[in-house]
Formats: sequence, C-alpha cells, structure tokens
Amino acid sequence: MNKCGIFDSGIGGISVAKEILKANLFDEIIYFGDTARVPYGNKNESTIIRYSLEALEFLKNFDINFLVVACNTASAVAVNELKKEVSFPVFGVIEAGVEALKNEDKNSNILLVGTKRTIKSNKYQNFLQKEGFKNITSIATPLFVPLVEEGLIESEITDKIFDMYFENIDKEKIDIVILGCTHYPFLAKTFKKHFPNAKLIHSGQAIVEMIKNNYNLTSVNKTNIKLFSSDNPTEFKKVAKKCLKL
Ligand code: DGL
Repeated sequence: MNKCGIFDSGIGGISVAKEILKANLFDEIIYFGDTARVPYGNKNESTIIRYSLEALEFLKNFDINFLVVACNTASAVAVNELKKEVSFPVFGVIEAGVEALKNEDKNSNILLVGTKRTIKSNKYQNFLQKEGFKNITSIATPLFVPLVEEGLIESEITDKIFDMYFENIDKEKIDIVILGCTHYPFLAKTFKKHFPNAKLIHSGQAIVEMIKNNYNLTSVNKTNIKLFSSDNPTEFKKVAKKCLKL
C-alpha cells in the first residue's frame, strides 16, 4: 500500500495535493496543514526546519512511504534535513518547478514570486541559472499568503496588492511567472489578468511528472485523502474539500 504524506503551512499545499490526487498514484494521501503556525515564509531557517521535522513526525504515524513537501519555503530550507530522517523518498516542490521549465526558451523573461524565505534562499535562482536562464526577476510577495488563507482570491484588495508589488515591472514583457509558493496557484486568475502574456508555472503539476519519472508506481482506481491541520480542523477541512472539489 502506497501512502503519500504531504504538508504545507496551511491551505497552499492543497494546490499540490489536488494534482497528486488526480494522478491516482497512491492508495492514500495524508495531508497536514500547519494552520496554527502559518505563515512559514517570514520565519527564520531553523524554525522552518523544526516545523518541517514536526510535520514529518506527525505524518509518520500513518505509515507513509512517500513525502511531498508541498511548501516552497520548507523545500528551500528543510528538504535535506527531512531526507536524513527517513529511508523513503522525499520530494520538494522547487526541483519539480524548475524541471517544468526545461523546454522553455532560455532567453525568456522570468518573474519568480515566492515568500521572503524562498526568495532569500536563492534556491530557485541558482537552479534556473544552472539551466541557462538569464533573465530572472525575483520578488518576495508574502501578502499573497494571508489573502489565500482568507479566501480573498479575486478582490479589489488583491488587485491593489498586485499593483504595489509589481509597480516597477513591465508586466507585458513577462513570458513566464513561476508561482514559487503553493498558495499562489489559487490566485492564478489574478496573475493572468496582470501578466496577460505569461505562462504560469505551478509545481503541483510538475511534481506528478517527477514522481512518475522516478518511481514505477502502479496506478490505483481511486486515491483516498485524509486531511489534518494543527488549528481549526473543521474549517480547514471545509475549505480544503471545496478546493479539492470533494
Ligand atoms: N505555501 C508555502 C510556500 O509554498 C508557505 C507560505 C507561507 O506559509 O508563508 O512557500
């Protein structure tokens, strides 16, 4: 029986869980959203590592044999520590996101958005440069996380925050926007509105490819999902189920 543990600071990782659920690769998904401690993105590295190890400890209770770190912030700083703890595969979303760009023009104008910690870690930027991409602008956009947690997906406030963060960007010229935070795919419509010519890259879709390419998993008829959170579990389940269309 293949069981995949997935965690994020909150609802964001549901955008990744949704893709993994659709792919029918696992018998069961155990999802943990650390809603008591969201956001992770402006905490320091050692705190994020500690939170990530605690999330893993919780998920281990369900005999998982795969772990997907559905949080770019934790993927930026904690994946190596997580790998040391277990003998089963651990996937971070950053490698998957970069992998999804492998066939893109290396001269593309790329806009990378993520939390402060993700942008500061330079993990995406280093991977992208190694792949030969030259035109990368990176901006930390932490306010998008509470907007999504509050369900403010399309609103005047959301547009105003977009205008504030991207006031110095020639939006028409952006070819690719890397949604470097798993909360951001929920804002895809607003990203499309502000960056009309850009392709949006979302690591949830890419991670399914990565798992398929690395492991020969026999597909199942249906993947079950169990949802947990460290605070407000009833509300969390309600919102997560709505996002997952369950
Ligand atoms: N969804 C997360 C990420 O991908 C974390 C956002 C946060 O808690 O700040 O980075």
